[in-house]
Order: sequence, then C-alpha cells, then structure tokens
Amino acid sequence: MPWSVRKSRPVWRSERHGQRRDNRPGALRMETKPEDQVAELLRQLNPEIWLVTAATAAGRRGGLIATGVMSASIVAELPRVLVGIACRHATAGLIGEAGCFALHLLRPEQTDLVHRFGLMSGRTIDKLDGIPHQPGTTGSPIVAGCRGWLECQVETALDGGDRTFYLAQVVNGQLAGVTSGQSVAEPTVLEQVATADSADSPPASSRTDDGILRLQTLLAALPDETRAEMRRQREADAESDARAIRSWRASHTRDA
Ligand SMILES: Cc1cc2nc3c(=O)[nH]c(=O)nc-3n(C[C@H](O)[C@H](O)[C@H](O)COP(=O)(O)O)c2cc1C
Repeated sequence: MPWSVRKSRPVWRSERHGQRRDNRPGALRMETKPEDQVAELLRQLNPEIWLVTAATAAGRRGGLIATGVMSASIVAELPRVLVGIACRHATAGLIGEAGCFALHLLRPEQTDLVHRFGLMSGRTIDKLDGIPHQPGTTGSPIVAGCRGWLECQVETALDGGDRTFYLAQVVNGQLAGVTSGQSVAEPTVLEQVATADSADSPPASSRTDDGILRLQTLLAALPDETRAEMRRQREADAESDARAIRSWRASHTRDA
C-alpha cells in the first residue's frame, strides 16, 4: 500500500454546532440537511462536456463523455490535464493500454455525440464508426468539428477505487478559430490552448457565447427521454461507484 488515509467520516456543521437558524442575508438555511446542501452545491456546477477518445496499437478504439476533466498546470509551455475515468468503462481499458488519449471540447450543437459516447457502451458498438475523425500524433482519434481538442500522454495514474485519475501531458492541440491556417503542431497553438483560460483573458466559463457545450445547456437541450436515461444510468453508476469507493477506503484506511 503506497500510503494510507486516516479513518474519518464527514462531520457536518449542524452536528458540531447544532441546528441553529441564521437569518442574515446570504446565510445557509440550516433547516436543510447539510448532506442536501452539499448535493445542492455540487448541482450548481456547470462543467464543460468533454469527449474523450482513445485507440490501442492493436486497433481497438472508443471513447466516452466526461465532465471530470481539469487543467492541471499553470505553466504555458508545460500544459497538463487531470481526467477521472471510471474503471469499469470500456474507455478506461483503452487508455490503460494506449497510454494516451484525446480530449475534445464539444460545441452546443453536438449533443448527438453525448448520446452516442455518453449513454452507450464501447463493448457493444464501435462508437467511432461513421464519425469523421483522423489519428493524431499519438494515434488517438481526433474527431472533426469540435470546439477544440487536446492530445494527451499519460504521465501517471492514481487509483481512486471507482475512478482512475490520469495526470497527462498535453502534447498537441487546437482551439477552433484561434489560429486559422497554422499547423496544429506549432508551439504557439499549444500555448494558446494552455492560456485560453489564463488571467490575461476572461475565463471561458464566464462567457456564455464561447461556443462550448456545458452541463446545464446540455440538460436543457436534451429530449425528456434522453434526460431520463441519463439520470437512470447515473444512478446505476453511482451505486457501483459507492461500492468501489468504500472498498478502496477499507483497504487504504488505518484506524486513528
Ligand atoms: C454528462 C456526462 C458526464 C459524464 N462524466 C463522466 C466522467 O467524468 N468520467 C467517467 O468515467 N464517465 C463519465 N460519464 C459516463 C460515460 O460517458 C458513460 O458511462 C459511457 O457510456 C462509457 O462508455 P464506455 O464504456 O464505452 O467507455 C459521463 C456521462 C455523461 C452523460
């Protein structure tokens, strides 16, 4: 075991201080259970919708939709990302074998890709069949028509029980509309991708006209039956994730 964590459980504010009512403007309403407030806070997030693709040397390929993607470096010439992929997904096996993957920022009009890559399993269909794409420099499939893409080489992987968190070096990338006519391999493009969300420009998340598909827009755009299927799969995934997280904790925890 490389390291261990102390056994602990969340101590909610109301347990420590009792249920008190605070009527000051902006104060948390303590009638709501803290667990519900945590769930509500997380529901307020509006992450980007990413399409992750990967292909092995043996020719197996696939991908999934992910919101668990973040920039993991502030150094423009050393861009990195951190991506959380559930271990049971077919794509996890592809990334593990290939050691690399591609990330695509989707446009608001690309919700059909969410249906194909986010609600179906690569174990039963070839998700890239009929989707225009070409191999990038790492061999990862680069899907055409997206808002932008990054090619990533895995540097290390952290086992979280339910998910593997891949810390990856960004080795190539393109942001549509930023550098028309320029080769995607030129360093200036990588720098532009890495600094697109830097202090010099307003963060993409603060703009509504940036042409990027985010979770709240997706939920509003989906037909009722697709949204219901998404919820059903999420609940099923959460059940198996809960078992995996508890089992991971049991094997990584030492008593206080
Ligand atoms: C909006 C949305 C966000 C998702 N975010 C993640 C994520 O961050 N990580 C992950 O492993 N799966 C995520 N999923 C689930 C996978 O995309 C989905 O289970 C997919 O069908 C797995 O495909 P595969 O088994 O072919 O790899 C998300 C799905 C949706 C619809």
